[in-house]
Amino acid sequence: MVSPSCLAAYDFLATGVMLVGADGRILYLNSAAETLVGMSGVLLAGQPFDSLFGHNTELIAALNAARDTHETVTEHDLPVQVNGHPATRVSCTITVHDGPEWAFMLELRPADQRLRIARQENIRAQQEASRELLRNLAHEIKNPLGGIRGAAQLLEHELSRESLREYTQVIIKEADRLQSLMERLLTPHRLPKLSPVNIHEALERVRSLLLAETPHGIRIRRDYDVSLPEIRADAEQLIQAVLNVARNAVQAMGGKGELAFRTRAARQVTLNNRRHRLALRLDIVDNGPGIPEALREQIFFPLVSGREGGSGLGLPLAQTLVAQNRGVIEFESQPGHTVFSFYFPLENASHKP
Ligand SMILES: Nc1ncnc2c1ncn2[C@@H]1O[C@H](COP(=O)(O)OP(=O)(O)OP(=O)(O)O)[C@@H](O)[C@H]1O
Ligand SMILES: [Mg+2]
Repeated sequence: MVSPSCLAAYDFLATGVMLVGADGRILYLNSAAETLVGMSGVLLAGQPFDSLFGHNTELIAALNAARDTHETVTEHDLPVQVNGHPATRVSCTITVHDGPEWAFMLELRPADQRLRIARQENIRAQQEASRELLRNLAHEIKNPLGGIRGAAQLLEHELSRESLREYTQVIIKEADRLQSLMERLLTPHRLPKLSPVNIHEALERVRSLLLAETPHGIRIRRDYDVSLPEIRADAEQLIQAVLNVARNAVQAMGGKGELAFRTRAARQVTLNNRRHRLALRLDIVDNGPGIPEALREQIFFPLVSGREGGSGLGLPLAQTLVAQNRGVIEFESQPGHTVFSFYFPLENASHKP
């Protein structure tokens, strides 16, 4: 038998673990597996695996393949259904073991979690590629732009008729506008200077900056979990990222509405392809009109803007800064309720609510 202390450690895993003995009976399920199959391990332990799971043909086929080849088998998106409960789709890895303690180990993860991570990865890669493309393009545009502006200035000196200078002024002003956009696209991203940061102090700075620049019709409510430990981050980059997101919310609310800053602990989250037992979640919530449907998939791409006069650089920069600090930004939006959530890992930290 596997020692109970060993098994207790499995309960900390986000992955479901089920052990099956050589006689085909279920030996053990950790808490994540209990949640996935919707039944208690106490009820399942000792029961024949086949009598409970035998009708899940794809799962049984995977188990047989592992048994026959003696190799670890992984199947994605398998339907698993037990005892009349609704079927759950899982990713399943089956390992065969010859020792006396157990014969099969099934590792189970919800399939939607895998899809969500794969989707996150995919979107991040696309964003990275489009940022790179734009940086190269901006670089190429900058040089001729300098030439155009210089030539317009020279021309202006040569013009004798005052009325014609209006035209050279348009060229110069528009070239300057483009130049400043290119500068922003090319902003060099410095490496973060990591140090312990109290998220609430950073939020208070963002709050006072925002209050100074917003109309009186906006309220900013705080809902802080003050027991959260500090995160390791670059305070200036963190403030810049939160400010970009919160400023969008204020702009979307068009002068009146409520913004909320909420902090919480989040358990078992996957960030940038790494799973963290504990993370800090910061929600920026607004009750504005919501992100236009047509923009939802694209708002983290550069130059995507739904706002008159917006340059569409605030969110991509925020996402880059947060990723440099090992975090992620996600959002959910519907009219009247938009939430941008920042996640940062809390390594080796204990949180006592
Ligand atoms: N809280 C929000 N509610 C509604 N729409 C939003 C919200 N946050 C972002 N958006 C939409 O996402 C778009 C992209 O935001 P982003 O900050 O990247 O660019 P921008 O605000 O348009 O310009 P910039 O920040 O560069 O001045 C916004 O133009 C807006 O349409
Ligand atoms: Mg913005």
